[in-house]
Amino acid sequence: MTTRILEGKEFARQFKEDAGKKAAEWKEKYGMAPGLAVIIVGENPASQVYVRNKHKSCEELGIHSEVIAMPEETTKEELIARIDALNEDKKIHGILVQLPLPKQIAAHEAEILNRIAPVKDVDGFHPVNVGRLVTGEEGLVPCTPAGCIRMLELAGIPMDGKKAVVIGRSNIVGKPMFHLLLARNATVTVCHSHTQNLAEITRDADILVAAIGKPKFVTADMVKPGATVIDVGINRIAPKKLVGDVDFEQVKEVAGAITPVPGGVGLLTVAMLMQNVVKAMEMQMQMR
Ligand code: GUN
Repeated sequence: MTTRILEGKEFARQFKEDAGKKAAEWKEKYGMAPGLAVIIVGENPASQVYVRNKHKSCEELGIHSEVIAMPEETTKEELIARIDALNEDKKIHGILVQLPLPKQIAAHEAEILNRIAPVKDVDGFHPVNVGRLVTGEEGLVPCTPAGCIRMLELAGIPMDGKKAVVIGRSNIVGKPMFHLLLARNATVTVCHSHTQNLAEITRDADILVAAIGKPKFVTADMVKPGATVIDVGINRIAPKKLVGDVDFEQVKEVAGAITPVPGGVGLLTVAMLMQNVVKAMEMQMQMR
């Protein structure tokens, strides 16, 4: 049996192509390109790379992009004032505050993110968008889990009636992943650090999603032969060495399909963000 390697590059290219087409369509229809504003506070090097990638993707696809770099010592009030201005800015359809925030404002993260108008919340973190995801209403969905689901759909991997296991219960990946899989009629189990007999549960999964943040945590004995394994982890174990939450070399011998790290899910996130920006613009134009 040959294992299918789900290459992020191919899916990301497709997501971006779709977003670029929509961006051109909206520009023609509304006389204005979709616009994204990314706020970065401080000088976290990883965040700077992510923000640069987002900006580059926008430029490739004809999406207006503004990067707002604020100093490390920015106060909560200053950051909120910028968000308020962007909420009112007609050129901007998506607002993203890059995380993590510096220490002095990290404790206010929820208050800061909740200030973003839900219709411009392209990260899908606002409680209004979380609520819409839970109830199944149209809204903005966090980019990484949304990208994983779209990848499964494009790859023709069925979810309906399948057993899916998600390891990790974060607001950014694990919880939204649960709701997205459930909405596609999977039978979903969420595991976490307090789960007992984890391997017994994961071995039952047709679709296994690892979003834990522990290098090579998922080993071959935890995977059912033929299962689809999605690795959301990005762990830096040496200056130039990234590994996922899945022990790829071992698990690829057992899985039916698997995403590599690097080159897997990581590439989907930015591409999905582009889709969220064009979707946000469409929702805003329909509200007028
Ligand atoms: N930092 C790491 N991942 C993310 C994400 O999905 N959104 C934002 N805003 N910041 C992040």
